[in-house]
Amino acid sequence: MTTVSAPRIEHHREPLGIGEARPRMSWTLDDAPEGWQQRAYAITLTRAAGGETVEVVSSEQVLVPWPSRALDSRERVGVRVAVQGIDGTWSASSPPTWLETGLLHPADWSAGPIGLDLDEDPESDARRATLVRSTFRIDGPIAHARLYATAHGLYDAEINGMRVGSDTLSPGWTVYRERLRYYTYDVTTLLGEGDNAIGAWLGDGWYRGRLGWRGGHRNIFGSDLSFLGQLEITYADGRRETVATDDTWRATLSPILRSGIYDGEDYDARQELPGWSTAAFDDTAWLPVSVRDRDPHTLVAPTGPPVRVTEEITPVAVLTSPHGARILDFGQNLVGRVRIRVTGQRGTTVTLRTAEVLQEGELYTRPLRSARSSDAYTLAGHPDGEEWEPRFTFHGFRYAEVAGWPGDLDADVAAGALTARVLHTDLERTGWFACSDPLVEQLHRNVVWGMRGNFVDIPTDCPQRDERVGWTGDIQVFGPTASTLFDVSGMLSGWLRDVEAEQLPDGTVPWFVPVIPSHKVWSPIRPGAAWGDVATLLPWTLYQRFGDEGVLAAQFDSARRWVDRIDAAAGPDRLWDEGFQLGDWLDPAAPPQDPADARTDRYLVATAYFARSARVVADMAVALGREADAERYGILAAEVAAAFRAAHVNPDGTMSSDAQTAYALAIVFDLLADEAQRAAAGARLADLVHAAGNRIATGFVGTPLVCDALTLTGHTAAAYALLQEQGCPSWLYQVVQGATTIWERWDALLPDGSVNPGTMTSFNHYALGAVADWMHRRVAGLAPAAPGYRRIRFAPRPGGGLTHAAAVQLTPTGKPRSPGASSRTHSSSISSSRSARPQSSTSPVSRPKNSDTARTPERCASDDRGHATAGHPVVDRRTTSSGRKRTRRS
Ligand code: BGC
Repeated sequence: MTTVSAPRIEHHREPLGIGEARPRMSWTLDDAPEGWQQRAYAITLTRAAGGETVEVVSSEQVLVPWPSRALDSRERVGVRVAVQGIDGTWSASSPPTWLETGLLHPADWSAGPIGLDLDEDPESDARRATLVRSTFRIDGPIAHARLYATAHGLYDAEINGMRVGSDTLSPGWTVYRERLRYYTYDVTTLLGEGDNAIGAWLGDGWYRGRLGWRGGHRNIFGSDLSFLGQLEITYADGRRETVATDDTWRATLSPILRSGIYDGEDYDARQELPGWSTAAFDDTAWLPVSVRDRDPHTLVAPTGPPVRVTEEITPVAVLTSPHGARILDFGQNLVGRVRIRVTGQRGTTVTLRTAEVLQEGELYTRPLRSARSSDAYTLAGHPDGEEWEPRFTFHGFRYAEVAGWPGDLDADVAAGALTARVLHTDLERTGWFACSDPLVEQLHRNVVWGMRGNFVDIPTDCPQRDERVGWTGDIQVFGPTASTLFDVSGMLSGWLRDVEAEQLPDGTVPWFVPVIPSHKVWSPIRPGAAWGDVATLLPWTLYQRFGDEGVLAAQFDSARRWVDRIDAAAGPDRLWDEGFQLGDWLDPAAPPQDPADARTDRYLVATAYFARSARVVADMAVALGREADAERYGILAAEVAAAFRAAHVNPDGTMSSDAQTAYALAIVFDLLADEAQRAAAGARLADLVHAAGNRIATGFVGTPLVCDALTLTGHTAAAYALLQEQGCPSWLYQVVQGATTIWERWDALLPDGSVNPGTMTSFNHYALGAVADWMHRRVAGLAPAAPGYRRIRFAPRPGGGLTHAAAVQLTPTGKPRSPGASSRTHSSSISSSRSARPQSSTSPVSRPKNSDTARTPERCASDDRGHATAGHPVVDRRTTSSGRKRTRRS
């Protein structure tokens, strides 16, 4: 019996307050007989105006078009799907998914941003967070209520003394001037008949807090703290009332004395105002608010999940440093905050300073640079104890030094009084990996933790020092791994809108998005290879992994303009050989203070990326049916590849930079003349790996490619040798040094146990963890063979002495079962729902009969690093979208 999962709406985990008037839908089959194929689907919509069923002859099941008239604002619709097999049999209807739109039109907004006008120094380190509130009456039974909310700064809303929602650090970080995100909350159960109150905490956040390195700046996006909230109450009798932020609200200073993303938070519980967000509270001492500006055209609904606390971790040890400091060890480098439960005298201040590492037994904060990363709580002195967690900050840390603790810290830790609360964008996990080498498994765990800590609303470089920005190069190289491990489709397609918003009129893509005007090297913005290529390569990755043609359509212009920009920089010789470049950033041979001084020539890197991006734009054009663009960029890609060869490749396959990154680029980006040259380049690369004693010799650019380059040219053993090397520098060197995340520098911790003296020494940087994608695709051998895994390629590359390896992937079409999971066949069948808990399966890594592992050297035909020669999907959308359509009304 075929059964269908509740449909997914666009890329939303929870489709409440969505911004799409014509959302696309996807579903998976929970169960289907072997060989089952879909002939048609029927979508049943339950709308206020009545029911409607639309039948479409199509085998498509991912992001199918909305089949009915566009949705209105605030519209709530039940969506169910039934599917018909080619034998003509229909399944039962799926369970419903209830979607609800947010405010789709600027005119829907009556609220304006409001806040407290204070006579304060905008450059001060100690600006207070504020509170705003209002009261209202409910004079009858209500059917439902929604709060639409956002802020200049960060907000936490409360109604009648209760917290609204479970998100944190909202509204996150977007290009505020053009796109300020709002969230929608179902607040029905927080309200009651009679008097009610609503309020919000407001903190500096990214909007007006200190941002940027070398001191940074404040008030980059504005100097106000403002809440914008629109509470809409629908009564049982159908009436609707709105409570919107306006000049009748009142405001005051909060007990948060200062808060900053980098610096932490100080809180004085003696200044608390108990019951401040309840109707009974007397706010006569509060001050009037002023109404600020915000164009409602710039308010956008989220495309992905918000940031939430997803896990709590208790210390594994309480240490005493040589100087007598008390330090909690959480056993894991993580991103979040520490919650305390404490009992003590009024006025006692507890301070928590965090760091990723210890040196000589003491908390070591130099890698944080100017980030203070310190929280302080002053007790009110409640005899029954008090609980506190910072609200508007986050730290990257494994250790927390506790000072001023009133009482027995060891006993209190044992009783659970100090807990690390892990936060990040609440993405759905989609990829799992296991193998017989525990060190490689730990490496994979470190990649996952590195990703969690650096997906905090935007994809960041690091979560701990005075930086934490959306460096484009980092996510460009990590995109495929990120897309394997978690469903990043909604979050990153939203961030790509910000990339486009920040792109200069001439096509230049900034080094980090959102842009913060910081120091002179990065402003004015100049184009840089591998970083700016996020505009082409990330949309392509999302298309490959999530099958979303919409992201290609949305980003095509941005991608094309980036390639045109490089084209202009390169000129007629097609070589991008001038200007500021970071090249193979953090090649381990580069001097600590000059990470761009790599073994591979930076202009070789630049021209290779030029060729790759031109190729990808041509492939995007093919996918979008833009024939003229496909031809134009296809020709450009071929010309750049020819120029690259003429400048950098010798006839015998050796290269102008005789370095691993150079060969990896030429092989994986398919820039070589023919099979012979490719084989020679592969052989030289393998020789270099061997000559280096399998120590890593690549930076940000080469590291994600080097294992692929080796496996593509038949040097699988060399790829495993690199993966499993434990000497410094190598992936497993970090692991044997006790790393629990991926480090920014291969040797962030030097072999003598001291911290690398470089000024950039993060212990939580995902870029060098980009090898995990190769582990899934080549070690376990599970890869997409067509966009959105419509076809799956199962082709493990056994090696490295592994006796088993396995990957499980939740794909848009279901969960592929790899051999050994439940059957011994090598055909990847798809059957499972996204919501099902994957059973990680263990597959023997023996050479599968039906796989193509015997074919070496092998062309990268089916993954997102090669050309778009991926096999055709089982279903060709173009032939099905014109399928017969029948509408039934009920
Ligand atoms: C960041 C990197 C980034 C680089 C580029 C560093 O400070 O942490 O990951 O890509 O700068 O210059």
